[in-house]
Amino acid sequence: VNGKIQIPVVVNVLYRTTAENISLTQIQSQIDVLNQDYNATNSDYNQVPAIFSGVKANVGISFVLDQVIRKSTTKTSWGTRDAMKKANQGGLAPTSPTTKLNMWVCTIGGGILGYAQFPGGSSATDGVVIDSKYFGLSGTANYPYNLGRTATHEVGHWMNLRHIWGDATCGSDLVADTPQHNTANYGVPTYPHYSTCTGTPIEMTMNYMDYTDDRGMYMFTAGQKARMDAIFAAGGARNSFAQ
Ligand code: ARG
Ligand code: ZN
Ligand code: CA
Repeated sequence: VNGKIQIPVVVNVLYRTTAENISLTQIQSQIDVLNQDYNATNSDYNQVPAIFSGVKANVGISFVLDQVIRKSTTKTSWGTRDAMKKANQGGLAPTSPTTKLNMWVCTIGGGILGYAQFPGGSSATDGVVIDSKYFGLSGTANYPYNLGRTATHEVGHWMNLRHIWGDATCGSDLVADTPQHNTANYGVPTYPHYSTCTGTPIEMTMNYMDYTDDRGMYMFTAGQKARMDAIFAAGGARNSFAQ
């Protein structure tokens, strides 16, 4: 990788109601949040507790809005099986998925905020899906998921990050500098929240890869940054974005 990675973002908006046809202002607000969160310029970065100050990291990847594609539909919800990514199911196929991050903004349903495809999957379905109620800062964005952190979290998955609890009781996220968590945390846990896993570490509930409310998450770590950098490096699954 020579120089800073800049990721062009294609936003695919699938709408039935006029509210779902979110404004360009709302879309740009989400791009701005991604740039802040991935460059440690988010206003809450200084709230990271002192015990994590040695591992908190500026990921240093930036995002630029490339294009917005809009499509009117009659579907009330799209589910989590990639229908929104397929023209023959009423959705929109991704644009240049090996060089652009595609985001689909639509109503997912079932209480799902968003979902992502990990590196290494089919390019026909590559990208992240965010429900329009949890996208960006204004318009349809709903408290407590109205600070754009669903996209920050999903793009983390798209860049190969696992949930901080490793999707198991005291599981592993394959990152050495994040503590072991019992399980997912919700809301905004009071600091310090102790793990009952080996060594009873203080959990890093403010990490973007936990499940807290948007205002409760505001950091990545150096280990997570290394994992993300690796997929853009030579031989990495997303090296085509680093050209
Ligand atoms: N449940 C979603 C996922 O597992 C996203 C959670 C995002 N959390 C948030 N505070 N916005 O990918
Ligand atoms: Zn997740
Ligand atoms: Ca860890």
